[in-house]
Amino acid sequence: IRDKACMRAWSRRLRFEEGKEKRSLALVPTMGFLHEGHLSLIREARAYADLTVVSIYVNPGQFSPSEDLASYPSDLRGDLRKLSEVGGVDAVFCPGNLYDYGSSDGVVNEGVFAAPTVPAEEAKASSCLEDGGSGHESWIRVESLERGLCGKSRPVFFRGVATVVAKLFNIVEPDVAIFGKKDYQQWRLICRMVRDLDFAVKIIGSEIVREVDGLAMSSRNVRLLHGERDKALSIYKALSEAKSAGLNGQSTCQEIKDLVVQTVSKAGGKIDYAEIVEQESLTPVDQINCPVVICIAAWFGNVRLIDNIEINA
Ligand code: PAJ
Repeated sequence: IRDKACMRAWSRRLRFEEGKEKRSLALVPTMGFLHEGHLSLIREARAYADLTVVSIYVNPGQFSPSEDLASYPSDLRGDLRKLSEVGGVDAVFCPGNLYDYGSSDGVVNEGVFAAPTVPAEEAKASSCLEDGGSGHESWIRVESLERGLCGKSRPVFFRGVATVVAKLFNIVEPDVAIFGKKDYQQWRLICRMVRDLDFAVKIIGSEIVREVDGLAMSSRNVRLLHGERDKALSIYKALSEAKSAGLNGQSTCQEIKDLVVQTVSKAGGKIDYAEIVEQESLTPVDQINCPVVICIAAWFGNVRLIDNIEINA
């Protein structure tokens, strides 16, 4: 389904079929180039609802002009094949341009975004969408949760994510939505948005799926050059060591963070951040005396990877 109005109509028709009991619907939002991590969310969705919708949309609103929107990998044909193989997907929503308000008659605009024209100093606070001049002006800000971790180096990212997820919720009208804990801050931020704005959607956080060698699956992994992929394994190594140190109780958070930075830097990664934060509020902690999560973002070549590990003890 490519059109918003068709998507909403489909959802309403299937959920409230005449003469039948109401059926529940789960949404799995994605940006495509699907891998086993995405597919695990889809399998999980089936346990929560009668119907499953997967959305595939590379959202320009969450990329800044200096980021990798243009080179973000895509393979719709391959995605559809994987979805039919995994089974149990009732509809795939792949809109052309979710921010095109010009045509409400179902005409699809295949979403071409102009090259950035904003001066560098303004680029920091703008997304690729504003450069497309769509007239979209409404943004959802989850004020404290969007600031730390990835929000520091990606200032428009979370308002773009929150806004597009809210749009998807309004279009698809799901009862449940599944997010991966791989994007830990994103998952927590969506939970908060749903609570604060009374969306009638239950949010499920699904465990991180890793390659056999520990690398967290990500659509961006294909852009790692051969040597870089091996180096990137240092992320999971560092997180696992850090978790053991945390559980051991002998080290301070600063010592644990230093350990993470050291392991990843030694392998050639350029650290964006390594933080230990409380799991819900994402506020940094000095001591591990509550459920925490160790979050990391690091560059390997031109690829920025994120990962995390929870400590619940
Ligand atoms: P995308 O990066 O395509 O991820 C879609 C969903 O898959 C997210 O919930 C993400 O956390 C989950 N995911 C990705 N890799 C995973 C892994 N290795 N294990 C478990 N889950 C994994 O996240 C986005 O798209 C976008 O920001 C989106 C929410 C769709 C809004 O545009």
